[in-house]
Amino acid sequence: MTARIIDGRAIAASIRQQISKDVKKLQQHYHIVPTVVTVKVGYNPSSELYLKLRNKACAEVGITTKTIELSEDTSEKKILQELQTLNTRSDIHGILVQFPIPKHIHPTTVMNAIHPMKDVEGFHPSNMGQLVNGNEYLIPCTPLSVLTILEHEHVLLEGKNIAIVNHSAVVGKPLTLLFLNRNATVSVCHVFTKDIIPFTSQADILVTATGIPHMITPAHVKKGATVIDVGITATKDGVCGDVDFESVKEKASAITPVPGGVGPVTIACSLCNMIKTFTTCMTTHK
Ligand SMILES: NC(=O)c1ccc[n+]([C@@H]2O[C@H](COP(=O)([O-])OP(=O)(O)OC[C@H]3O[C@@H](n4cnc5c(N)ncnc54)[C@H](OP(=O)(O)O)[C@@H]3O)[C@@H](O)[C@H]2O)c1
Repeated sequence: MTARIIDGRAIAASIRQQISKDVKKLQQHYHIVPTVVTVKVGYNPSSELYLKLRNKACAEVGITTKTIELSEDTSEKKILQELQTLNTRSDIHGILVQFPIPKHIHPTTVMNAIHPMKDVEGFHPSNMGQLVNGNEYLIPCTPLSVLTILEHEHVLLEGKNIAIVNHSAVVGKPLTLLFLNRNATVSVCHVFTKDIIPFTSQADILVTATGIPHMITPAHVKKGATVIDVGITATKDGVCGDVDFESVKEKASAITPVPGGVGPVTIACSLCNMIKTFTTCMTTHK
């Protein structure tokens, strides 16, 4: 069996096309251009690329972007002040903080300081908490991207065994809740999992996000499984994912490549969240 290669770029393009139409309609209705701000602290080459791609996608669909660049040694207090100002500005409809941030700044403190209504990344505890309740609204962009890809590929989730190799707050934990909300049975693996193979090799859907190139081999994969590779690692041979793509594609039924899989859809999903924060700001006059 050779797996169907899921084309993340094509999925992203169709999302952008829809968002573009939505933005036009919203602008006609409110006579205001959706505007989002990214707060960037210090310099990180991989996040620079991500920011550039996201800003390009925003421009394509008609969302205005602004970037506040702060130096590496900016105090946490100063960042919180910036966020407080952005929270109250009526001309700003979405706020993102570009991660990773310098070590002296507490990521949770920063995430908690963004107004939940303008929280494009969906990391605020109130938005995360809504996932627990099943009241999904602003969903973190990478888990939303995985869900979007599976929906796009018509992969049913109810009753399926799903293994996630990652239990970070940005990927594995919210994704677990999203899958549970759709009645899947979820195994979550991480560095303390003694052996991940008993979990991954039973999974109808395998999602991996470790950042360890080629870690997932055919031995980890059930025949006919759908494999979603979230991992992105820059190596001397270029960008690669967690999955040993060439061998695993012979066992899976569908698989995302890296690059060209989850990455572009994640950016498109952040545009979807921007539309949500804009609409909420307009309807609540925040
Ligand atoms: N495509 C996208 O849009 C997108 C978005 C975000 C992240 N990413 C990529 O996804 C990867 C993970 O990102 P992240 O921010 O979630 O990083 P992270 O916080 O470092 O998470 C890595 C996860 O993998 C687990 N892990 C690491 N080695 C493992 C092993 N040998 N066996 C089992 N589990 C293992 C870790 O477990 P512990 O928690 O126990 O350490 C952790 O849960 C990175 O490559 C990142 O570039 C891609």
